[in-house]
Amino acid sequence: MAIPFSPETAIHEQHSRLRGARIVVVSLALCCLPQPAAVAGEAVDGRQLFDEACAACHGPGGQETVRGRARRLDSLSADAVRDYLMAARAIDTPTRPYQRLKKGLSDAEVEALASYVGQFLTH
Ligand code: HEC
Repeated sequence: MAIPFSPETAIHEQHSRLRGARIVVVSLALCCLPQPAAVAGEAVDGRQLFDEACAACHGPGGQETVRGRARRLDSLSADAVRDYLMAARAIDTPTRPYQRLKKGLSDAEVEALASYVGQFLTH
């Protein structure tokens, strides 16, 4: 026997679906509460940043030399990468795109990149 359509039932169902969605949103927010650093906008995913901003020139594993102009990043320690990026940030008038890119990095981004790139070191 077919269940007769009732607007009340339809509205009720919609409400409980909405309530369900709200519970999902709230629990997602609770489970994924960022760490204090992230609240300040400082949590940086080094891998994601590297893949987006650096891999095109340096290779996804830091194995490229930008046509012989840079050392392979997989030959550099995290400290060396950090020193380089700090120096790159200090350039007063960056002219090349990659210099401007590096000048714009925040402290947190330099740290995240240094520790991620430092993991490429194979020897
Ligand atoms: C458009 C190409 C390009 C992009 C994008 C780029 N770089 Fe570079 N990078 C270069 C070139 C060219 C050099 C060598 C010349 C120089 O140091 O200015 C270099 C040098 C370096 C060095 C030093 C290597 C050495 O020879 O000592 C490090 C470390 C480095 N880049 C890291 C990064 C990181 C991290 C990013 C992403 C935020 C990045 N680069 C993005 C082109 C690029």
